[in-house]
Amino acid sequence: MPTIGELLVSAATRLRESGSETARLDAELLLGYAIGADRTAVVAHRDAPVGADAAARFEEALRRREAGEPVAYIRGIKEFHGLAFAVDPRALIPRPETEALVDAALAEVMARLGRRVGDTEPVRIADVGTGSGAIAVAMAVALRGRRVQLGRDVTILATDRSADALDLARENAVGHAAADGMRFVDADLLPPVLPDDGARLDILLANLPYVRSDAIAGLAIAASFEPRDALDGGADGLDPIRALLARLPDVLAAEGVALLEIGADQGEVAPAAVADHLPGWRASVAPDLAGLPRVLRVERPRS
Ligand SMILES: C[S@@+](CC[C@H](N)C(=O)[O-])C[C@H]1O[C@@H](n2cnc3c(N)ncnc32)[C@H](O)[C@@H]1O
Repeated sequence: MPTIGELLVSAATRLRESGSETARLDAELLLGYAIGADRTAVVAHRDAPVGADAAARFEEALRRREAGEPVAYIRGIKEFHGLAFAVDPRALIPRPETEALVDAALAEVMARLGRRVGDTEPVRIADVGTGSGAIAVAMAVALRGRRVQLGRDVTILATDRSADALDLARENAVGHAAADGMRFVDADLLPPVLPDDGARLDILLANLPYVRSDAIAGLAIAASFEPRDALDGGADGLDPIRALLARLPDVLAAEGVALLEIGADQGEVAPAAVADHLPGWRASVAPDLAGLPRVLRVERPRS
């Protein structure tokens, strides 16, 4: 029987040759998946033997990875904001840089709740283009951990125009016991009438597609396994964001805030689009952990 260490060495070599830039990490994650253990156990037990069934599962996973399929789709799981999300080709794999959006949104919600005295209206939040539900579910779980009651203190609406993605988002919400406090709606950006009789949103979050159409072919092969509608942002990458900006006057409450993920090369054009579409509204850009422009903040003035 081969040992964990032996399988890792040969797998990392194969994956490197197939073009993976994270060959060793991929091999550890996939072997952990094949033997039903986490990666730390794989790294810690290099001399342990691997049985025939697990070795066969590992071989199948390696073949898929060599063909370019993302590790997350093979394992069916991706960690995001400290939570394990079910992932499959119905939706984009959540990216670590999107955690910056969640952190900014949490700070915004907590500040608003802290300012409310005797206000019985919840803080209304929407996640537009929810995909796997990563942003909305991470928000729900993190708020619950801060003793914020979903439904009473905050409401969370999650939308997508992909019914498949919405199904996955619902599954993730159920998996994290957060579904009761959330609403999932199949819509082009937002439904014509918002929930709660059209009550306006206080905080709108969105990680809409922002890759330029002509840049899609140049993405890593792994991206070709993800839905194109989750990536393609049109000629300059900003079509979906501009369409959402155009909806903000109708859906955002006074002093409401939209936090929109943007591409690292959109730090100047995205606020310029706000100035074009929403004169008088404030726009600023915050970086992600890598220091790259990532979160566009758009604030509606008081009146
Ligand atoms: C970049 S993915 C982000 C998914 C998820 N929010 C995340 O951060 O991992 C964009 C998502 O927006 C959805 N989408 C694209 N255009 C949309 C539109 N006009 N209305 C609603 N959803 C849209 C796609 O189906 C996809 O699920």
